[in-house]
Amino acid sequence: MRIPARNFQYGGKNGAELACEKVPLSRLAQTYGTPLYVYSAGAIRERMRMFAAAFQGVRHTVCYSVKANSNLSILQLLAGLGAGFDIVSGGELERVRRSDKKALKRVVFSGVGKAAAEMDAALAAGILVFNVESAAELDLLEARARAAHKVAPVALRVNPDVFAETHPYISTGLHAHKFGVPMSEARALYRLASRSKHLLPTGISVHIGSQIQNAEPFGQALRRVRELVTDLAAENIALRYIDAGGGLGISYRIEEPFDPQALLAQYARVVRAELEGFDGELLLEPGRFVIAQAGALLAQVLYVKRNGSKTFVVTDAAMNDLIRPALYQAHHAIVPLRRRAKDQATVVDVVGPVCESGDFFARDRSMPELTAGDTVAILDAGAYGMAQSSNYNTRTRPAEVLVDGGKHKLIRRRETLRDLLGPEMLR
Ligand code: LLP
Repeated sequence: MRIPARNFQYGGKNGAELACEKVPLSRLAQTYGTPLYVYSAGAIRERMRMFAAAFQGVRHTVCYSVKANSNLSILQLLAGLGAGFDIVSGGELERVRRSDKKALKRVVFSGVGKAAAEMDAALAAGILVFNVESAAELDLLEARARAAHKVAPVALRVNPDVFAETHPYISTGLHAHKFGVPMSEARALYRLASRSKHLLPTGISVHIGSQIQNAEPFGQALRRVRELVTDLAAENIALRYIDAGGGLGISYRIEEPFDPQALLAQYARVVRAELEGFDGELLLEPGRFVIAQAGALLAQVLYVKRNGSKTFVVTDAAMNDLIRPALYQAHHAIVPLRRRAKDQATVVDVVGPVCESGDFFARDRSMPELTAGDTVAILDAGAYGMAQSSNYNTRTRPAEVLVDGGKHKLIRRRETLRDLLGPEMLR
């Protein structure tokens, strides 16, 4: 089995020990316990370098999408690399502030349901731009900016009505979805904004969905955006930013060849082509592409049980720790931390302890034989893993560790029952 450059590689004696950078994962499991999220700082830096190379010569800022993985240390690492941030809540704004105050001026605020208090906080923080998604939101933003004696920098998130082939829950660029303003209405809203003393139309944004592995739909969306930018310029509404959103996918299948650099280069080619002659700045909002392959979830096998013809490998991690397989039928590769010489493949379901049949990480998957006490790594879990975890079944959430070369550091301690039960009271 081949694990492509994910900074999670077999090495050590006989090439049998899975390591993250220079640290054997079994050591991390021992030190910090399981379930455990492990991230590679090197992998994050590498993806950021890839963006810089692919968009060299284009004025651009990578505004990492905080929702993918919002750990403070990860945001701090990214801010140090010059990243801006795409946020969707006052909570995410606060995370950016705590990670690196200087990055607040590189924040774009997206989302269909910004509340007044969230707008107030973002206005006070002096963010780069509000990506506004409706006429009503534009109204409220103007009122909040007026009350604060400020001018709110505004981009409209337009809905380009472009179909991107991905899971229906994470596709967003069609009129049938709740996101954005129809292209036909955007022009009138820009005019409205340009007449307000408290709004400054400064950009335009588009985001068509997530886990898109083909550059073409991004091009289609940007073409429509570009037409609008040109029309608006003719009306003296000069937009400085074009925000191409996020959504670039990865391959979750380790048996398939996947070259992230080649995919990014293809994406950059398409984006550059549509931006030809635009003399402003490009904003990008990648989440998954930056962080997914930098992370793995370690889980220990508690039991192996057989029900009739089926074999279930029960791990100490569950759907509350990583919900992607249950929610999107997502595939995640699962590999043992220690490869054995004569591994027999068996077909198993890998499941967690949560009381739901949907609590699985893999179904009918051919895997090297596992026994109780073994530890496995669920790969490509850096994006939308911990970020979408919950306390369902009153389970404390995993700890998180950041590996950098030969060093490792706890970046979120394991939750305790005291953390969980603290906010509740008896009547
Ligand atoms: N910008 C906007 C406006 C977004 O809504 C999103 C993601 C992104 C950027 C970042 O997209 P990315 O580059 O990560 O694809 N939980 C799902 C994915 C939900 C994506 C939501 N929006 C999953 O685990 O597949």
